[in-house]
Amino acid sequence: MSSIIDEVDYGPLAQLLGKWVGNKGLDNAPDADANPDKSSFTDEMTFTVAGPAENAEEQGLVSIKYHHVVRKLENGRIFHDQIGHWIYEKSTNIIMHSLSIPRAVCLLAGGEYREDNGASIFNVEAKAGSQTYGILQSPFMLEKATTKAFKMSLTDKNNELKYHEITSLHIYGKDFEHTDESTLSRVTYEQD
Ligand code: HEM
Repeated sequence: MSSIIDEVDYGPLAQLLGKWVGNKGLDNAPDADANPDKSSFTDEMTFTVAGPAENAEEQGLVSIKYHHVVRKLENGRIFHDQIGHWIYEKSTNIIMHSLSIPRAVCLLAGGEYREDNGASIFNVEAKAGSQTYGILQSPFMLEKATTKAFKMSLTDKNNELKYHEITSLHIYGKDFEHTDESTLSRVTYEQD
């Protein structure tokens, strides 16, 4: 580990730093009739340090930023791109996850960090309408393809990173559970 990691205690976020790739992604998104449209995909996730932040001289946060690129397995075309931060508060064990996607949707999800049987588990969720762990979307998306809730579990065990996301949509007049899951392996350690 280098000096950058030594200077700041990133807690459980430190293990995520670096680049991860995978080719086991499964997406379930709505087609034009709000029926399930399933695709396989590859992932590339890069996590880099973003330093500490003190809020109101009281809350001590550390954060890392990430970029997630998803390509269709069959043709290598990018069909999802996501950026944001993972944020941790040691004194409360709170984990927060901010994300932004180019459909003009962004959110802040929150939860608690825990460990179980050698696995590091980051569980977070957000709900539209919440003033804390909530969701913001463009006027078009709010009217036509509303994101109502988001739930994510990210687990690191033995250098294998798994995630499962449920994005609850209301689209084409119906509720739809848009899900994504994948498993990634580490290719490099910290990026700075
Ligand atoms: C690995 C993660 C994800 C992948 C691979 C993915 C992929 C897709 C795909 C393929 C569609 C169908 C529409 C199209 O073909 O362009 C879709 C729709 C949608 N996704 Fe995702 N998505 C992911 C995560 C998310 C997240 C985190 C959100 C929001 C928080 C989100 C929000 C939406 C919305 C609102 C739609 C409906 C848009 C429409 O079909 O008109 N997605 N997504």
